[in-house]
Amino acid sequence: MKKSISGFSKLSKRGKLRWIVENFFVDPENVMRELKSYWLPNEAQQKILDGFSENTISNYPLPYGVAPNFVINDKTYCIPMVIEESSVVAAASAAAKFWMTRGGFKAKVISTRKVGQVHFIWKGDFAKLESKFPALEKMLRKNASPITQNMEKRGGGVIDIHLENRSHLEDDYYQLKVTFETCDSMGANFINSVLENFAKTLQNFIILDNDFVAAEKNVVILMSILSNYTPECLVRVWVECPVEKLGTFANDIDAETFANKFCKAIRIAHIDRHRATTHNKGIFNGIDAVVLATGNDFRAIEACGHTFASKDGHYRSLSHCKVEDGTFKFWMDIPLAIGTVGGLTTLHPIAKRSLELLGNPNAEELMMVIATTGLAQNFAAIRSLVTTGIQQGHMKMHLLNILNHLKASQKEVDLALEFFSNRTVSFTTVREFLNGQRPESEQQSKAFVYKKSK
Ligand code: MEV
Repeated sequence: MKKSISGFSKLSKRGKLRWIVENFFVDPENVMRELKSYWLPNEAQQKILDGFSENTISNYPLPYGVAPNFVINDKTYCIPMVIEESSVVAAASAAAKFWMTRGGFKAKVISTRKVGQVHFIWKGDFAKLESKFPALEKMLRKNASPITQNMEKRGGGVIDIHLENRSHLEDDYYQLKVTFETCDSMGANFINSVLENFAKTLQNFIILDNDFVAAEKNVVILMSILSNYTPECLVRVWVECPVEKLGTFANDIDAETFANKFCKAIRIAHIDRHRATTHNKGIFNGIDAVVLATGNDFRAIEACGHTFASKDGHYRSLSHCKVEDGTFKFWMDIPLAIGTVGGLTTLHPIAKRSLELLGNPNAEELMMVIATTGLAQNFAAIRSLVTTGIQQGHMKMHLLNILNHLKASQKEVDLALEFFSNRTVSFTTVREFLNGQRPESEQQSKAFVYKKSK
């Protein structure tokens, strides 16, 4: 078996797949057939997908679900979600329905600015460079105008440029910190192109200015790159209603007890970072699913969200809750640098459909939809945790997955749901239950279940 190869990227897709299956799998022909079965029959569509990445040998399908009944700022949405974890879409839908009759979700975009940095190393007189900054800024803007003019026509562009002295933190280290408005695009390519242009202008500016002595002429550009930390690309989402309108909950929990337990759970996620991480993970269950469904960059969103969660030096819950004058208030501010034009959003055929399903929102509206899904997910998780416990809902999904796996009929599913409403779900117990419903010839053997469930 060969585990390494040169020139792999030059092989055809079939050639790549063949090399992989022959060198890494015990049953090459079967694996080849299986991985090829996920190729799209429509060659044009497959080509689009392959174009998103490199060395593709197959597709990796994930479920594409929808959560209906989301009321956000009095408008009703059906939200597309791509996620592999059971219960997430069901939880989002349940939270949407709960708040639909209690005023819905409210959201507003606080600001939409993004940041990029040119990090440079320079041995020179910073006060001199600072005194020349107005002229430098003019030149930076002028030289970048071929890149920025289109964005400016759309209402965006470079908002401001700061020269920052960081040499007290790292020898000879300075940066240009640039704020951008990228309108409906996520803007990564735009920002990085502008920054690389700024870097060249900075070097030339210092070379051409005779006030800088020979020893100051060398500006080493270390890197020019956007920052995924975008605390000024921020959206606020909230729900509120009189405590008594919360209704009653499982296990006979009344509205007031629920509100108190709920708020305590949120406060614990503010003081305990083990809990905060899980709590925020639940929020990102919702956020990532919509970010993925709409062709946005979930890694950027996650990275930013977690940095934002630790903005005061301690990692905390992203969401907040309080009861004030008899009103239950639950809210979250979250930075979401996303786009609705450019990138995958318009290239990926399903991302495009997701945006259509949402009514072709602009970036600000999509920020509100995504944040809402995160808050809804968080509400559903905490509601379960402080009432029934999380396993009840999870176990129902687990049960349905097992039943599906064991090819249960609708009648068997209904009977199983009733039977397991107060019993422990496991592969063995479900198989035994089904076997009890079936004639001997149709019963599943232990070996079948073990092999399938591995
Ligand atoms: C599971 O994916 C997410 C939860 O753990 C979130 C939470 O605990 O808040 C249920």
